[in-house]
Amino acid sequence: MRRPIMAGNWKMNNTVSESVELVKGLIEKAEGTERDFVVCPPYTALYTVSELIKGTEIKLGAQNIHFKEKGAYTGEVSPLMLKELNVEYVIIGHSERRQYFGETDETVNKKIKTAFEYDMKPIVCVGESLAQREGGIAEPIVKGQLVNGLKNIDSKDAERVVIAYEPIWAIGTGRTATSEQANDMIKFIRSVLAGIFGKEAADTVRIQYGGSVKPGNVKEIMAQSDIDGALVGGASLKVDDFAQIMNY
Ligand code: G3P
Repeated sequence: MRRPIMAGNWKMNNTVSESVELVKGLIEKAEGTERDFVVCPPYTALYTVSELIKGTEIKLGAQNIHFKEKGAYTGEVSPLMLKELNVEYVIIGHSERRQYFGETDETVNKKIKTAFEYDMKPIVCVGESLAQREGGIAEPIVKGQLVNGLKNIDSKDAERVVIAYEPIWAIGTGRTATSEQANDMIKFIRSVLAGIFGKEAADTVRIQYGGSVKPGNVKEIMAQSDIDGALVGGASLKVDDFAQIMNY
């Protein structure tokens, strides 16, 4: 059985003081869970959140990583810096990073390898645009992102990989993929992973759905046969909403 993983991607939201308030509220609601609960604050709040969640059920994720350990890369944050803050997960290849910051399957691949090198687990985002879905090419697009992003990743590392299927047209739009659409694509993703890692290893990979997940739709999404978790944006910014999602 794969352990469910509910993760909040705060994106470019929450000052340090707002982060403190949010995470304190979540800590209480996470006690005694058998799921993985992850928060991914902005870099400026990582240290503070890291200190607050020590010894709790909340785990820490970063929203990006650089693939070099240190050097002249103005504005970037290295794996060594994240590791020191006990960052356990790192979101890689989010569609917003692909769209606005030039992330490609090639950089995604480098970053996944870096995350492993520093013993962090990548949450690798894949997903098609509306035009690609309407053009009937959603599957080949997602397949390409997986095959290229996971190039030369050893199947022994598969169980450390989390994939987040986030159809771009469902992100922050209030328009969720139907749970069947999400489940069908996630089944397809697992079949692609079986081609990459072999079936046994592919079965250990956790695959999340992301895109307008809310307290009101999380139960139905998580009831699908192949969905192992959610990557949540907007609804992860309020204690009550994300607590309901974590404990669906
Ligand atoms: O990474 C989470 C994400 O992109 C979904 O955002 O606001 O639609 O839940 P949202």
